[in-house]
Amino acid sequence: MTATRIDGKAFAATVRGKVAKGVAALNTAHGITPGLAVVLVGEDPASQVYVRNKGLQTVEAGMASFEHKLDAETPEADLLALVAKLNADPAVHGILVQLPLPKHIDEAKVLSAIDPAKDVDGFHVLNVGLLGTGQKAMVPCTPLGCLMMLRDHLGDLSGLNAVVVGRSNIVGKPMAQLLLGDSCTVTIAHSRTKELAEVCRRADILVAAVGRPEMIPGDWIKPGATVIDVGINRIPAPEKGEGKTRLVGDVAYDSAVQVAGAITPVPGGVGPMTIACLLANTLTACCRANGLPEPEGLTA
Ligand code: GUN
Repeated sequence: MTATRIDGKAFAATVRGKVAKGVAALNTAHGITPGLAVVLVGEDPASQVYVRNKGLQTVEAGMASFEHKLDAETPEADLLALVAKLNADPAVHGILVQLPLPKHIDEAKVLSAIDPAKDVDGFHVLNVGLLGTGQKAMVPCTPLGCLMMLRDHLGDLSGLNAVVVGRSNIVGKPMAQLLLGDSCTVTIAHSRTKELAEVCRRADILVAAVGRPEMIPGDWIKPGATVIDVGINRIPAPEKGEGKTRLVGDVAYDSAVQVAGAITPVPGGVGPMTIACLLANTLTACCRANGLPEPEGLTA
């Protein structure tokens, strides 16, 4: 049996459509336009691509996009001053400081300076704590996107065995909290986990977020499991020509697709959901800031 391919690209387009509808309704009924500010420090090429795509999709959804590009030598104090300005700006409902930041800047300090109500990345410790205690939080975009795809594919997740491979603050830990919130039995595994293959084989839901190309082979997967591959790894592809590369996930897709019940491909799986959820979070933050009901189906 071949697994169902979960089409993240199509699902993300649906989410963006719902966001655009919510934005239009907010504008018509209340004259409010949600605004997202994105701050990029330095010239990291991958970050520049992300930021450009974020800006385009924000405008496409009918929201206001504010981009702040600072040079790589910007002092930490200047970045903190910009964050304070954005915190105080009523036209800005969401603030995202693109990571990684240059080495001379204390990332934790900057993330803590963002108003938690505008923290559309969900990285502020207050939001981490709210999520961990089952309260209303801003939730990190990538795990939120994974949760949406899982609910869409499986419906009720309660009682399922979920294994998250990876313990990062951006994906692994919040993903585990979200699955726990949906009443899964959750295991967080990582590179030091003993008998990792055995642990993975118990998973009805397997989320791979380790950043190691094709680390999880098909024979680590329980037959019929739902596999969410968060990895985006660029590897050499000599078959495409000299110096060429291709993207692969943390799961060995060709073998996994023979065993799993459903699986997200790379590219075209989780990736497109991240920006879609950023837009969803911006709309949610705007609704909360104005004391209005939250958009349905776009929150955890
Ligand atoms: N860099 C790579 N992914 C992300 C993300 O989701 N948020 C931020 N702020 N930086 C990133």
